[in-house]
Amino acid sequence: MAEVAAALGLGPEQIEDALRAASLAPSVHNTQPWRFRVQRDRIELHADPARRLAATDPEDRELRLSCGAALFNLRLALQSMGVRPLVSMLPGHDAPGALAVVRRGGTLKIDDEHRALLAAIPHRRTNRRPFLDADLDARQRHALVRAAELERSWLHVITTPEERAQLKRFVKQAHEIQLDDEAVQAELAAFTGHRPDAADGVPAGSAGVRPEMQDEWVFRDFQGPERHPGKDYESDPLVVVLCSFYDGPLGDLQAGQALQRVLLTATTFGLSASFMSQPIEVKRVREDLRRALGGSLVPQTVLRVGFSTPVPATPRRAVAELLFDHDEHAPC
Ligand SMILES: Cc1cc2nc3c(=O)[nH]c(=O)nc-3n(C[C@H](O)[C@H](O)[C@H](O)COP(=O)(O)O)c2cc1C
Repeated sequence: MAEVAAALGLGPEQIEDALRAASLAPSVHNTQPWRFRVQRDRIELHADPARRLAATDPEDRELRLSCGAALFNLRLALQSMGVRPLVSMLPGHDAPGALAVVRRGGTLKIDDEHRALLAAIPHRRTNRRPFLDADLDARQRHALVRAAELERSWLHVITTPEERAQLKRFVKQAHEIQLDDEAVQAELAAFTGHRPDAADGVPAGSAGVRPEMQDEWVFRDFQGPERHPGKDYESDPLVVVLCSFYDGPLGDLQAGQALQRVLLTATTFGLSASFMSQPIEVKRVREDLRRALGGSLVPQTVLRVGFSTPVPATPRRAVAELLFDHDEHAPC
C-alpha cells in the first residue's frame, strides 16, 4: 500500500490529514473521482478516470465539480497547518494531466472564518430528508451568495413563483429522460445501496425516501424507504442554482470550489442541502436552463437548502488508495 510522503514543508501525517479532509468532499454518486500525487514541492490533484460516469456525466463536468470541492477542502486543511496554498488550475506542461497543482505560497495564520469552514467539513452531508418549514434569514442567504462569489462563481437564488415552476419542470423533464436511459440507470444502480462496508456509493441510510413523479421537486432515486401513500414531501424549500462564469474545465473547477464553500457555509449555520443535478446532466435541458438564466451564466448544479434532521455520513476510501503513483501514466 502506498505511503504518504512529506510535502510543502509538512510531515507525512499532516499531508495524510489534509488528503483525508479533501476526500470528505461531496461527489456525484459518491464516486470520489480524485487522485493525488504528492511530491516534495507540490500536491497534484488528478481526476481518476476509472471513476468516470460515462453515461450520466459524459463531459466530466460533475467529475471536475467534485474534484473542485475536494480542492477547496485541501486548501482549508493546508491553511490550518500554516501553509498558504498557491493553486494553479489546469497547469498543463507543469504537471501533465493534473486538474490542479498546489504549492506552498508562504506561511499563513488561518482566520476565524476559514477555521469555522474547516470545522464544518466532517459535519457537511447531503441531506435528502424532508426539510422543516423554517426559512433562511437574510444573513444566511447573503452568506451563501457571498461564499459563491468568493470562489469566482455565482449563486442564483430562485425567488419568483414563475421561476420556481419553470425550474421544477426542468428537473422533472430531465428526470424522466434519465429514467428512460438504461446506461444512466445502470450507473445509478452501481452506486446505490452498496454493502454496509463499501467505501463508495450512496448507502440506503443516506438515500432519503423514494421520489414520486407528482412531487414538487423530483429527487434522484437511491432506493430509500417507500413513503406513506399520498404524503407530501415538504413545502417549498429554498432552491439555488450554482453557476460559473465560464463554460469548460476551468469554470467547472471554480464552481466545484464554490460548491464546497457554499455547502460548508450552510453547515456552519446548521443548514442542510441536497442536489438536483438532473437538469444539468441532460444537455438539452441544461441549455434551456441556461437560456432561462439569461444565457451567459453557466448552470453547474441545483441545490435545495433548509433545516432538517441529521443524516449519517457516507463512506470514503482510505487515503492510501487515493495516492497516484509516480510511475503510473498520468490520467486525463
Ligand atoms: C456534482 C455533484 C452532483 C450531485 N448530484 C446529486 C443529485 O442529483 N442527487 C442527489 O441526491 N445527490 C447528488 N449529489 C450528492 C452525492 O450523491 C453525495 O455528495 C455523495 O453521495 C457523498 O455523500 P455526502 O455528500 O453526504 O458526503 C451530487 C454531488 C455532487 C458533488
